[in-house]
Amino acid sequence: MYEASSINESGKMKFFSNPSYRIVCIPGEGIGPEVVEAALKVLQQVAKLEGFTLQVDYGWLGNTALEQFGSYFPQATIELCDGSDGILFGAVTQGGLLELRKHYDFFCNLRPIRIVDSLLHKSSLRPEKVKGLDILVIRELVSGIYFGPSGRFEDEQGAYGYHTMLYYDEEIRRIARQALRKAQQRRGRLTVAHKENALPHLPWTRIVQAEAINFPGVIVEPMLVDNLAMQMVLNPQRFDVILASNLFGDILSDIGGALVGSLGLLGSASLNADGFGLYEPIHGTAPDIAGLGIANPLGTLGACVLMLQQWGEAGAAQRILVAQDKVLAKGYRTADLSPQGSEILVNTEEIIDLLLAEICSEKYSESGVLYESYK
Ligand code: NAI
Ligand code: MG
Repeated sequence: MYEASSINESGKMKFFSNPSYRIVCIPGEGIGPEVVEAALKVLQQVAKLEGFTLQVDYGWLGNTALEQFGSYFPQATIELCDGSDGILFGAVTQGGLLELRKHYDFFCNLRPIRIVDSLLHKSSLRPEKVKGLDILVIRELVSGIYFGPSGRFEDEQGAYGYHTMLYYDEEIRRIARQALRKAQQRRGRLTVAHKENALPHLPWTRIVQAEAINFPGVIVEPMLVDNLAMQMVLNPQRFDVILASNLFGDILSDIGGALVGSLGLLGSASLNADGFGLYEPIHGTAPDIAGLGIANPLGTLGACVLMLQQWGEAGAAQRILVAQDKVLAKGYRTADLSPQGSEILVNTEEIIDLLLAEICSEKYSESGVLYESYK
């Protein structure tokens, strides 16, 4: 929806751009509702400042959906999500999420792992090992072992179970193209996680290399996934884009949480071929801290930044990133970042209030450019 022109609160002239977005929020369980509500406050604030409106509908998934509708992924949620501009999701303990991802064919999961300068000493590694760290993990999200034939049976040898890692070549090809495109836009290096010494019928290396012909300037580096896990800990700065299957990407990206200081800092976007997306933190329901009001909302906020960037709302995304850097540079830390010395312990609500105050005080030039831009 567009209006001819408007002046937003920063005094920035916006021509033909007063869009209106509708998102579906699925808070889920555990800390899900806490981090989603927190991130929404910031989203609404930047929407106001940037001159767009955000309509929020609430959907259900997992146990809350089962209680209300008798299904982990109910039709009521599908109806809300259809035609929306994005889905903002918290976390669930079980059920519904794989079905949601599959239903909308969210095959391309982007997980940026970027270190914030003021949190260098929070990494599990020495600061010089992670300075400037900027990795993009691209995980295939709707196929592989989480979706292959599976079952639990019994024969004469006893009970057994199986899950099958099955990929159509075309499924590898389409995620390869996304990863190659991202690598081309970044530093031009694509590391492909594979396990072809043990799983030779899943030739990720050959398929990605064949697609790479159409992406000049990108160096494709195949790496056995076990070595890759070790290299992420030994020398993470060497990586640019990492492409991984569903299972390998799930495991490797949690290493990213340790590298940047907390799992609670990382967000993700899962996109389908139309650019429609599901945006969520990479962590789970964190039952050990649920209900205490101390969860770190920055991973969910990071997912919101990815959503804004996907919409082309770069200004709104930048406002959040600049504010986040400032709040962290001033020493404010949620409990997961183990504040020490002069650092200040804050809870979920307090860090959001600090972010809102920072966003409102950001200075813009007359042409609408942030004086202090995010690097
Ligand atoms: P988890 O990610 O929920 O928690 C791991 C550790 O990180 C815990 O100590 C937790 O307190 C901490 N943590 C995570 N997010 C945090 C945040 N935002 N702020 C502060 N600390 C944070 O993983 P866990 O414990 O393995 O799984 C718990 C439940 O979550 C399980 O039922 C699992 O199935 C589910 N889960 C759901 C996911 C989803 O909905 N996408 C993803 C991963 C797990
Ligand atoms: Mg995971």
